[in-house]
Amino acid sequence: MAVKTDRLSRLESITGILLAWYADNKRPLPWRDPIDPYHTWISEIMLQQTRIDVVIDYYHRFLEQFPDIPTLASASEDALLKAWEGLGYYNRVRNIGKAARIIMEEYGGQFPRTKAELMTLPGIGEYTAAAISSIVFGEAAPSVDGNVLRVTSRLLNDARDVLLPATRKDVTSMLAEIIPDECPGDFNQALMELGETICLPETGADCARCPCRSDCLAFAEGTVADLPVRQNRMSKKTEHLTVFIIESPDGSVAVRKRPKSGLLAGMFEFPNTEGHLTLKQSVKWIEELGMTVSVIEALPEAQHIFTHKKWMMHPYRLTLTKKEDEPFMFVHPSLLETTYSMPSAFARFKPYLKGQDHLAEN
Ligand code: ADE
Repeated sequence: MAVKTDRLSRLESITGILLAWYADNKRPLPWRDPIDPYHTWISEIMLQQTRIDVVIDYYHRFLEQFPDIPTLASASEDALLKAWEGLGYYNRVRNIGKAARIIMEEYGGQFPRTKAELMTLPGIGEYTAAAISSIVFGEAAPSVDGNVLRVTSRLLNDARDVLLPATRKDVTSMLAEIIPDECPGDFNQALMELGETICLPETGADCARCPCRSDCLAFAEGTVADLPVRQNRMSKKTEHLTVFIIESPDGSVAVRKRPKSGLLAGMFEFPNTEGHLTLKQSVKWIEELGMTVSVIEALPEAQHIFTHKKWMMHPYRLTLTKKEDEPFMFVHPSLLETTYSMPSAFARFKPYLKGQDHLAEN
């Protein structure tokens, strides 16, 4: 097909420029030197849906706590969740634990080397398998993430919806034809890095610094800010949640563990209930659970956005008349720092705990 040939030759023509640019500009990221499959794996999983500056701190702490695959394989789920606290998408770390155990049990502790084998591990999809196999083991497999799709859509002035699997599949097969056998990992990382540092979303693109500017069709046509096209966006459903920061007179705070499966599974949360309860209804909710409210106040509302839905959170802070042991766990707030993993959706209310008021926004 003529269009495909044109696209391929355009992508092929920038390969040399891209690799030269990467050689001169690659960031000294902690997992890049020396290259190690375990380090590459953890960094690639963390980098999904998370900015690189945030990832770096988590990465160092994670490797300090779990320096190798055997340590990781024997870690408890609670310890893994605590190490991942704040990064979100907690199934990522659950799958890391499961995959570590499979590597120990089925691969004798040796990291699988091929994209095909890597894709059989929990949490490792086509992108991550290709990233690890190309960067660490030199397999010529393109790893196509959102950054890469942004770069290719602009280079080719390609207005297909990048959220459609067919677009990703076609870009992957084009890149598979031109990825250099001698340095597939550099090729993949050069495209990602260009997307992360120069070919930024919307009007953030810094075309003046782009090594591929003279080969970029979107630059020539003035369509950089319009690409990539992302039409397939699902509209997010809004759910209302009333959240209770319940403090006992001894300073302990009520928390509970979320169910073993589903959203934020197994993490700790402040007690909450569906819907937007008024102050009066909130007192009733608490009293029906057998506790007596001494003081209650509404806190500023907050919104938390997940992939598929949005929580509108209506928080109340309240103090009980006396210390309780049920129906929740009452724990010292310091344990929320050291022991219990609390996702950001709820952790945002920690500054409202007694003695922490000065930390609260608004
Ligand atoms: N983003 C995700 N993985 C990356 C990598 N290996 N290099 C640069 N950017 C990335």
